[in-house]
Amino acid sequence: MRINDCTTLERDGGIAIITVDSPPVNSLSVAVRKGVAEAMMQAAGDSAVAAVVLICGGRTFFAGADITEFGKPVIEPDLRALQQIVEDMPKPVIAAIHGAALGGGLELALVAHGRIAVPSAQCGLPEVRLGLMPGAGGTQRLPRVVGAARALEMMTSGDPISAAEAARLGLLDRIADEGALRDEAVAFARAVAADGAPLARIRDRPLVVEQGLFDAFREANGRKFRGLMAPESIIRSVEQGIALPFPQALENERALFCALLEGAQSAALRHVFFAQRQAAKVDAISADTPIRPIIRVGVVGAGTMGGGIAMNFANVGLPVTIVETRQEALDRGLRIIRRNYENSAKKGKLTAEQVAQRMACLTGSLALEDLADCDLVIEAVFEQLDVKQELFRRLDLIAKPSAIVATNTSYLDIDRIAEVTGRPENVLGLHFFSPANVMRLLEIVKAAKTDLSVLATAVALAKKIGKIGVVVGNCYGFVGNRMLAARHAQAEAVVTEGALPWDVDRVIRDFGFAMGPFEMRDLVGLDVGWNRATSSGATVREMLNEMGRHGQKTGGGYYDYDEKRQPTPSPIAEQAVLDFSERHGGQRRIVSDEEIRDRVLLAMVNEGAKILDEGIAQRSSDIDLVWINGYGWPAYRGGPMYWADTVGLPVIRDKLKALHATHGEVFRLSPLIERLVAQGKDFASL
Ligand code: 3HC
Repeated sequence: MRINDCTTLERDGGIAIITVDSPPVNSLSVAVRKGVAEAMMQAAGDSAVAAVVLICGGRTFFAGADITEFGKPVIEPDLRALQQIVEDMPKPVIAAIHGAALGGGLELALVAHGRIAVPSAQCGLPEVRLGLMPGAGGTQRLPRVVGAARALEMMTSGDPISAAEAARLGLLDRIADEGALRDEAVAFARAVAADGAPLARIRDRPLVVEQGLFDAFREANGRKFRGLMAPESIIRSVEQGIALPFPQALENERALFCALLEGAQSAALRHVFFAQRQAAKVDAISADTPIRPIIRVGVVGAGTMGGGIAMNFANVGLPVTIVETRQEALDRGLRIIRRNYENSAKKGKLTAEQVAQRMACLTGSLALEDLADCDLVIEAVFEQLDVKQELFRRLDLIAKPSAIVATNTSYLDIDRIAEVTGRPENVLGLHFFSPANVMRLLEIVKAAKTDLSVLATAVALAKKIGKIGVVVGNCYGFVGNRMLAARHAQAEAVVTEGALPWDVDRVIRDFGFAMGPFEMRDLVGLDVGWNRATSSGATVREMLNEMGRHGQKTGGGYYDYDEKRQPTPSPIAEQAVLDFSERHGGQRRIVSDEEIRDRVLLAMVNEGAKILDEGIAQRSSDIDLVWINGYGWPAYRGGPMYWADTVGLPVIRDKLKALHATHGEVFRLSPLIERLVAQGKDFASL
């Protein structure tokens, strides 16, 4: 029987089966809630029904509350009213899970009287990633099942767990054969009904918490939770719930949830959620743009970057040939990859078998000719145009005609690289971020002649290897490094005028970045892109490099580092700054924290606006993703363009104009900002 557009109610003997099919992910929209509530009520009133199975069609069980409904008036029944109906059913309800039971979806399953899932299913409460917390009993019921400590971990990380682990923790009662979920759920429901025991409700279980858990958990995760509001609300909800009767504990949870929902962090993180889904939608690519099969990948260069890039493909079972010029470098590269995998295994993230499988995907070679049968070749060699051009000339002769040839350049003009080949349509930039096996960003750079099928293939491949692929245009530094250059220019300028590097780093860290610009330079290496032959003390960075201070790897750069790589401001670097200022900056002055913040961040926003105006990025949220996933912009501030919108473009425009008047051309206002302000619009409106 059809209950509504997305819900059906059927009978299999004495078992009622409620099926919800609401693409794409069965989120608990108003229609879904209404359908399930109505079907439950009918099943409750039908004396021939002994038990109920709640199951979903499509690719997944309920993936949570419908995020698009947040901030709009709630239409009854809300999720909690629906849960009440299910939990108070006079007959057992069994949740049958495939795909993922996430957020409100898992919370709904937690009010059922039994849970069964297929082995490939996952369970999780990922609300924290949206700056939220479970708001429908998750903070009260999950700890009663898996224990408070494990529940805190799951809810504050947002990471889902596998069906096997969920079964081990008691979150699932049974595992069904893949493909036999419905039948086995019906059998389970029959068994529970036949048993006739009082219905098991999680709310009736005791909540046992070990002494000192909450403070210990806060302390252990202080760094991870820095700046974020949701994790503390989650901890508080569990902690305060202990002393409260269950209904009040739910009310308390709800109040904490609503406060987060109305806050700026959740708004920003929801923006990021939708930005990620938007990024895969590229204007020029349509559903019928062909995607080329990528069966075998080649990587040129077994250094840190090449090795990290290769790991991404081995992780998903794609064979990779890595080419180096010298045996020693090749061996070293492969050794480092193995060590990375083994470290993951030590942390329990991989089994020994998985390490072996991944290593088996990798073949080392000293001959470029071995890349002849690759469908995609990515070069990660020295960042110098003539070196890359020479390599591309050779690759063009070796790679099969249909192969895509990509460069991992960070700054170079990809058209100049493509033009030396006879296949510029098959050339693009795939700009990975270091460490390439960890960082989620992939800038997919479209050059002038890049074929759309090549672009579409790269977008699909990014998803396959778990990257956030953002399509950008070809210009100096693309999106990320071009804005980074604008940031560095201001970071250096304020230091020349009177601030010290650690002042800048502190201000940027206080804003929410994990590290400041100078700390980042020390980490990356001051000598990246530095040339000893042409170095002339023209910047503080050149001066430090000339002294052999290349950053963390040499024990010092802007900071000095101890054996544990703990930084302290370096007196040598400070002297270099003072000497440089004397030569170039004139009288040093006090630069306020506010000025540092404005100059560094607004220079980025202004550059971002120019990037948008030039069509280098398709939408402002793509720029946000680049900065969040590649450079550590705090996600809870939504990215530089989103942040600018929240500050208000008229304010940004006025400040940029004032900076232009004082500091000149570098702050020339982007015409786009001027236009948007005149039209009363913001970046998000584009
Ligand atoms: N609400 C509304 N739309 C959602 C949604 C949700 N909860 N989850 C996913 N979608 C939409 C996406 O926006 C996307 O739309 P689009 O096609 O128009 O761009 C579409 O569903 C498909 O999503 P994905 O591209 O992400 O599909 P995947 O197959 O890669 O991933 C998923 C599926 C694992 C379910 C992933 O979408 C996901 O993680 N979703 C969010 C889950 C979540 O955060 N749930 C908690 C919500 S908050 C909550 O429940 C509060 C409660 O405690 C009260």
